[in-house]
Amino acid sequence: MNNKIKVAVLGATGFTGEMLVEIQLNHPNVEISYLASRTPNPVPYHELFPRFYKKTDLYCENLNLDKAVKNSDIFFLSLPHTVSMSIVPELLNKKKKIIDLSADYRIKNIKEYKKYYKTFHKDKINLKKAVYGLPEINKDLIRDADIIANPGCYPTAVILALFPLLKEGLIKDKVIVDAKSAITGAGRKAVIDYHYSNISDNLWAYKPFIHQHTPEILEILKKNTSKNIDLIFVPHVVGVDAGIYSTIYISFNKKILKKEINSIYKKYYKNCTFIRLLDGLPKLKDVIGTNFCDIGFVLNNNGEDCVVASSIDNLIKGAAGAAVQNMNIMKGWPESLGLL
Ligand SMILES: NC(=O)c1ccc[n+]([C@@H]2O[C@H](COP(=O)([O-])OP(=O)(O)OC[C@H]3O[C@@H](n4cnc5c(N)ncnc54)[C@H](OP(=O)(O)O)[C@@H]3O)[C@@H](O)[C@H]2O)c1
Repeated sequence: MNNKIKVAVLGATGFTGEMLVEIQLNHPNVEISYLASRTPNPVPYHELFPRFYKKTDLYCENLNLDKAVKNSDIFFLSLPHTVSMSIVPELLNKKKKIIDLSADYRIKNIKEYKKYYKTFHKDKINLKKAVYGLPEINKDLIRDADIIANPGCYPTAVILALFPLLKEGLIKDKVIVDAKSAITGAGRKAVIDYHYSNISDNLWAYKPFIHQHTPEILEILKKNTSKNIDLIFVPHVVGVDAGIYSTIYISFNKKILKKEINSIYKKYYKNCTFIRLLDGLPKLKDVIGTNFCDIGFVLNNNGEDCVVASSIDNLIKGAAGAAVQNMNIMKGWPESLGLL
């Protein structure tokens, strides 16, 4: 008898949808039951992505919610923001569990959502029910959630690096985050800036002060530490295929020793399989293809200034891997099932 849980991936032709398929084809408790995009006609998934040839016979088809709900239990929404919130109410009415990778259910403050995403929120009722899916911080809420707001990629790297230090009340006033994202962070759509000749061997900063992940970082840190930070967040795009690297400049409000910072991180992350605390600063390639978040820091001799760096694979710990980690928790399975 097949006891596997049936999952649908909506947005299966995008970067995160493709990664969800890859991870879940190797997940022992999962059967992928439905793949959808805006394709006008059903198409074998391996024709879209030849690397899946002989790994799956599934078709990707035009999204049909009636069909999807008949044969799937858990829905992964790898969709652009606004598209997710147009289908979540119907899925929840049909008692389906949802893991939404878009930003639609991450920020509770709808004024901030409107300000940063330039559109009104259409599903305020379910927004209240959504649980922010960062297991290292709120695993207990994830267990019983019907809808998970899967975290953004930059926020995952930044929040995981800052949360323990902020919770302990160590951070003095301003925090500067210089974060770099691979080109896949922007999705698969064609954009002139991301053509090979523009992006290869290139790097640039964008949207300082106004990036849409700013309110997510602030809201989640505030909610989980009861503390505000004065954040300067400067994202960059870099000509690599995968990864997020965040370099964070912090001043502490007292002198502190390296061993004290180490023990603070260990206190909060001792049971977290996917956090790796390093003695030194992380390197991007070490996390590519994994669900790990590597964190390291260097303290100045004065004991008050500190640089913390964190690194993740944007499509895995920053998206599809975290989504599967959340599913594992919701189902009561080992958190790392299919992810190590
Ligand atoms: N990329 C990352 O590193 C990353 C990390 C964390 C979170 N996210 C978030 O995850 C979501 C997906 O990101 P992505 O990078 O995978 O995007 P993407 O590569 O642009 O893929 C978007 C997917 O959504 C489908 N789609 C678009 N509009 C649709 C509609 N109206 N109805 C049905 N399907 C529709 C597309 O289908 P077609 O191919 O038919 O257009 C495609 O399959 C976004 O909200 C993004 O912000 C992305």
